[in-house]
This record gives sequence, structure tokens and C-alpha cells, in this order.
Amino acid sequence: MSTAVATPNIALVKYWGKRDEDLILPLTGSLSLTLDVFPTTTTVTVTAGADADDVVFDGASSTGAAAGRITKFLDLVRAQAGSTAPARVQTRNSVPTGAGLASSASGFAALAVAAADAYGLDLDEQALSRLARRGSGSACRSVIGGAAIWHAGTDDASSFAEPVHGPALGMVIAVVDAGAKAVSSREAMIRTRDTSPYASAWVASTTADLAAMRDAFTRGDVTAIGELTESNALRMHAAIMACRPPIRYLAPQSIALFDEAARLRAVGLEAYATADAGPNVVFVCRDGDVDAVRDALAERFEAGRLVAAHAGPGAHLISEAAA
Ligand code: DP6
Repeated sequence: MSTAVATPNIALVKYWGKRDEDLILPLTGSLSLTLDVFPTTTTVTVTAGADADDVVFDGASSTGAAAGRITKFLDLVRAQAGSTAPARVQTRNSVPTGAGLASSASGFAALAVAAADAYGLDLDEQALSRLARRGSGSACRSVIGGAAIWHAGTDDASSFAEPVHGPALGMVIAVVDAGAKAVSSREAMIRTRDTSPYASAWVASTTADLAAMRDAFTRGDVTAIGELTESNALRMHAAIMACRPPIRYLAPQSIALFDEAARLRAVGLEAYATADAGPNVVFVCRDGDVDAVRDALAERFEAGRLVAAHAGPGAHLISEAAA
């Protein structure tokens, strides 16, 4: 029995689009911050005598598409380990699932680490990142603590995340809506590639943004990091909104929150907005400014829906006692 915990990451340069759906190879690299909030805890027990995998989400046995994705993922682990034994997977999620708060990232990062250990694989961080990627692309970055760059790579071996050094950053998450999204990112990425006239511009400009972001990290230039973050997010949403039929993840309140970031900057508090495939908005700032940003946002946004976050550890095993 092996238990792992992982937390979501928020991309400053986004991953949006695959060159290979099966291996989950992205069209571009991306760069993110793994957070210290909303942990997913997953226990994997190899059940040699059982007929099939048993997937339990928050105490309830699951048989739907999400459970199917987990079995498909376990098949990869079993193939590497030379095992055919089923497993029981028990997951506790404190992330609102499917709301653009990256529950698939923390979920598959925790599952990769727990399942590899349960099946007796001895994988280093790079191999675990590659494995987690096969469950959900962004999960490869939650294997890494703090800031992580996911190299797009050209094949399974070259597509993984690793740490990237830079200034201490923090985030404030504004939960606009914790409900499930109407169109999954997996489906929306395909529709963007196939129908958005901005799809190729997105790939070209994100490749340039990633290079500029790496430079900004090396310089420790928080202003450049923030400006690139906000612009890259809006470009992703522009490409998504241009799909046919259209997809729009940002709600009116999300747009208002982007304006709030500008308002804070106008009074000298540097914060920059980003949003994933959902209406929630995440503010990026200097780590030491997190409380000030949260307090300033609370003047116009319900304080109970603001979550302060700092850099967190990568996915890791924990002892059964701690689970
Ligand atoms: C908008 O990693 O959830 O959060 O690889 O299909 O599982 P799949 O997609 P997923 O997509 C995350 C997209 C994003 C941007 C990002 O995290 O980089």
C-alpha cells in the first residue's frame, strides 16, 4: 500500500494543444508554479486476487469515465512493472474537481507517485514526471516542487518537467465558480486545433513567450514574469473563444478580476491575472505580497472565495500514519 500527496500547479506560460494525443506530447513547452494548497491524497494497493481495479473517489466507488482513465493509466504502470495485478485506488481531493483548478494535475501526479511505488518501480523525478504526463499533461509539472518547466520534447523520453530557478512567487486564487466546466480541456484543445483560426498563432507566440519567460526567471524580473503571464493567458483564451462552435471559459466576473489586477498595479501593488480552462482567476505576485494582494482583492470580492497560496512541494510519498 503506497500513499502520495500532490498539489495543483498554475501555468504562467500555458499548455494548450497536443501533437500526440496518446503519448500526451504538447505542441509547446510550458512553465508553472506548483502550489501548497488543495492537496490530492491517493493510496494505491495492489490487490493480486481481485478481478479488476477498484477506484474510490472521496469514499465512493466509481465506474465512470474518470475510473476508466485511471485503469488506462495503471495499465502503463503495470506494463513497466511487468505485472497484471489489479489495484485499489483511493483518492481524496480537496480541489473542486473540473473547475479549472487543475485537479487532474494533482490527481495524476499523486497517482503516478503512489502507483509506481505500489508496483515496485524505482523511478527518478524525471521518469515520474513523464509517467504523470501520460495521465494528464499538466500533471507532469505537479511532480516538481515550486516553479517547473515542461519541455515539449519530441517523444516520450524527451517530454518531462524539471525545476526552474527564479524569484519567490505567490498566488491568490479567486474562486468564481467551483462547478464542473461545460467542455473539458481535452476536448477544447482538439477543437482549438481543428477550428480556431488563431491556433497556429497561439503555438508560435507561446514558444516565444516561453523563451522570454525563462529569461525573466533567470533575471528574477517579476514585472516581466507577470506581464508575460497575463498576456499569455489572454492569448490562450482568445484562441479558445475563436473556436466553432465557440467555447468561452471566462465569466463576466473573471474579466472584472483581470481589471482588478490592473487596479492593484495602478496603486503600486504588483499583481497579474491568469486563468485556466474555467472561470476562476489566479493572481501572481511576489511571494511577500500575497497577503496584501488578498486583502486588496477582498475590498471588491468575497473574502471567503480568495485562497492565498505559496510555492509547494512536488508530488511525494507519505507514510500511512500521515495519510
Ligand atoms: C488550461 O493537463 O488538464 O490548465 O493533458 O488533456 O489532461 P490533458 O489536459 P490538462 O490541461 C491543462 C490546460 C490548462 C493550461 C496549463 O495547465 O498549462
